[in-house]
Amino acid sequence: MDISLKGKYALICGSTQGIGLATAKVLAGMGANCILMARNEESLKTVVQQLACDQDQQHRYQVADFSEKQQIETAIHQLTSTLKIAILVNNTGGPKSGPITEALPSDFESAFGQHLIGNQILVTAVLPGMKELGYGRIINIISTSVKTPLPNLGVSNTIRAAVASWAKTLSNEVGKFNITVNNVLPGLTETARLTSLMEQTAKNQQSEVSDVEKNMVKTIPMARFGKAEEIANVIAFLASPAASYVTGTSIRVDGGRTPSI
Ligand SMILES: NC(=O)c1ccc[n+]([C@@H]2O[C@H](COP(=O)([O-])OP(=O)(O)OC[C@H]3O[C@@H](n4cnc5c(N)ncnc54)[C@H](OP(=O)(O)O)[C@@H]3O)[C@@H](O)[C@H]2O)c1
Repeated sequence: MDISLKGKYALICGSTQGIGLATAKVLAGMGANCILMARNEESLKTVVQQLACDQDQQHRYQVADFSEKQQIETAIHQLTSTLKIAILVNNTGGPKSGPITEALPSDFESAFGQHLIGNQILVTAVLPGMKELGYGRIINIISTSVKTPLPNLGVSNTIRAAVASWAKTLSNEVGKFNITVNNVLPGLTETARLTSLMEQTAKNQQSEVSDVEKNMVKTIPMARFGKAEEIANVIAFLASPAASYVTGTSIRVDGGRTPSI
């Protein structure tokens, strides 16, 4: 099975921590030249230093805030003017939590901009290079809420569905160029995002974070949270030559938590 990414450029968004960071580490281990993108320049510099480079890889970073359309456009055009990106991992911070009845119109607008518009800007910029390479892997990190809406994540549930529909539409248009588009749906995964969601829930319920955690774990057939590396491994497979005939799918990596088949 060919899982080598040697010589390929991979743009991994939201890669200073959590699932994005774990993905960058796995892709670098498979030989990819990693380009990291996020807001925090100090963290980006630190992560670049941590990535494997024993296959002559050259890693780099580009600062961009996904809530600023102009910043994404500038960052991606700087990159695509000098290199062809073969792998794009669309990932950024999750939308604000809370019930949908309390969401403001501006909450939907900002989540739509950061998630869907951001992805669209990146994709349209990398597609010409992928077509020239005859190889493209677009992997969107979304959420299991694509399969079943999650409580207290009103804005997120709404925007995630839009991203999944966008991705499926895109996969139909670009498959003939040997470009695949897939979604990875993480379940409850040990990252800063999960910690902040548990803290918020504990505050709302006036309970302890440890109790919230116990109740969450009870909902998972595998009886534990996922690790960022476990999500990254699935992303890495989709990025590899081995996943050449997988497109238009949404893959749950959730320890069996999502109730539907
Ligand atoms: N962890 C879970 O249990 C879980 C479950 C389902 C879905 N997800 C989703 O999976 C995605 C990744 O989750 P995670 O747990 O890895 O999140 P995380 O630990 O909060 O990491 C988010 C990453 O995105 C970057 N980021 C945040 N806001 C950004 C912005 N405006 N512009 C550019 N970069 C930004 C952060 O870097 P900077 O701060 O340096 O910008 C960081 O590297 C999120 O969409 C999350 O909602 C997570």
